Amino acid sequence: MKVKNLVITGIALLVIVLLIVFGYRAYLNGETSLSIAQMSKKKILITYYTRTNDTSKMADTIHSLVGGDMIKIEPEIAYPADKEAYTKRVSDEREKRAIVPLKTSFPNLKPYKIIFVGTPTPLGITAPPVKSFLIKNSDNLKNKIIIPFIIYQETNQAMGAYRDITYFVPNSYVKNPYFTGENITGSKKVSTERWLTSMKFKRYELK
Ligand SMILES: Cc1cc2nc3c(=O)[nH]c(=O)nc-3n(C[C@H](O)[C@H](O)[C@H](O)COP(=O)(O)O)c2cc1C
Repeated sequence: MKVKNLVITGIALLVIVLLIVFGYRAYLNGETSLSIAQMSKKKILITYYTRTNDTSKMADTIHSLVGGDMIKIEPEIAYPADKEAYTKRVSDEREKRAIVPLKTSFPNLKPYKIIFVGTPTPLGITAPPVKSFLIKNSDNLKNKIIIPFIIYQETNQAMGAYRDITYFVPNSYVKNPYFTGENITGSKKVSTERWLTSMKFKRYELK
């Protein structure tokens, strides 16, 4: 009788432990949304490269909604204003798979949980300074949420830039990208707000 009771108690305890373990895992895997107010409480970094300020306008809009720190990524050697020279340089850098040196030095990235990364799409790729930032910091960006905002002229190429970003930081959670055409106006604030509130995060990504 005693043995039977012990076996029943053992099984019951095992079931309880399994329920707790699997229940917690299911809870962590579940998705949750953050309101803009909740998001603002996280330590947020908004970083971007811009040549003609479209991407910086978008960065400003995001910043006005979620706050956080904002850092413009500057290459050591600025890109030329002349379109042809710019095309040539980006094309060379793409061919050489260059990781261009940056003038911008970044603070310790550890405290940031959510990092918005903005890029135009010269020649359909992630701007080389943004690529450099991501590759040089891929270890520091491990397990962080990276939210790209990508400014394009041609939609199909924006998707390529997004895919690149996921390769540059394979150990980050790259998600919820925002793609927008180059004509950044005040009305973008409404769609930006909608984008921010529609984001879903796994609970483990927010831990
Ligand atoms: C030389 C050059 C090449 C470009 N190539 C592309 C391209 O291949 N695909 C695209 O979608 N946009 C392309 N663009 C457009 C830029 O991505 C777009 O104008 C963007 O808004 C610029 O952002 P910025 O003002 O932040 O630099 C190109 C722009 C320039 C000047």
